[in-house]
Amino acid sequence: MSINRGLKIAIDGPAGSGKSTVAREVARRLKLTYLDTGAMYRAITLKLLRENVDLTDTGQVEKVLERTVILTGPDERIYLDGEDVTAEIRTPQVNAAVSRVAELTAIRRKLVQQQKEIAAYAEGIVMEGRDISSRVMPDATHKFYLDAALTERARRRMREQHSKGLFLSFESVYNEIKERDRIDSERADSPLEIAPGVQVIDTTDLPVEEVVERVLQAVNRHRT
Ligand code: CDP
Repeated sequence: MSINRGLKIAIDGPAGSGKSTVAREVARRLKLTYLDTGAMYRAITLKLLRENVDLTDTGQVEKVLERTVILTGPDERIYLDGEDVTAEIRTPQVNAAVSRVAELTAIRRKLVQQQKEIAAYAEGIVMEGRDISSRVMPDATHKFYLDAALTERARRRMREQHSKGLFLSFESVYNEIKERDRIDSERADSPLEIAPGVQVIDTTDLPVEEVVERVLQAVNRHRT
């Protein structure tokens, strides 16, 4: 059995902080399951956008939720009611709407419940998001919060979009991330915040490999 069995690593942080890249690599190196919880919020957002649901109409949102199945598969594929929506959840339309959807308690209740179950059944997991340390895995063995200056985060997101052939202006990417940070930090239900006991890593001037090393060192130093 792997010596990493039982490791539960929580990585939170804002958009462009490097969470996904770091979490994915840490999971690969430690041979743990990797879960990107943001992808789940993105998938339900896609459905609500497709169905033109009024987000202020809680009843309608709940009805849609009841008949929605979001599954994560191998290779980080994400399925919405059986349809592979891995690419479609990363469009500017979803970016613009996802934080408004993630504010809704009915949505959070369902997804957090599903994420808790995934954590309970995994032999070891690296989970990344906004409320993993505080809400989804308060019992995580290791908790991290990655941060970086807003301009650097926007630059990274720009480069990522360019690599997919999407050429948005720096200003629009910057503003989108800034607005998402604001909504995510100000919402009443499990906002993005630095939970107690979390190790904060400022990644502004750090290469990915260095951040991965710091996480791995911290994990190896404190094995529970
Ligand atoms: O990849 P990026 O950092 O742009 O965002 P993401 O991790 O895909 O998450 C998209 C959005 O989902 C966030 O801006 C939050 O509004 C929401 N989210 C959340 O509320 N709780 C989580 N655990 C993960 C994401």
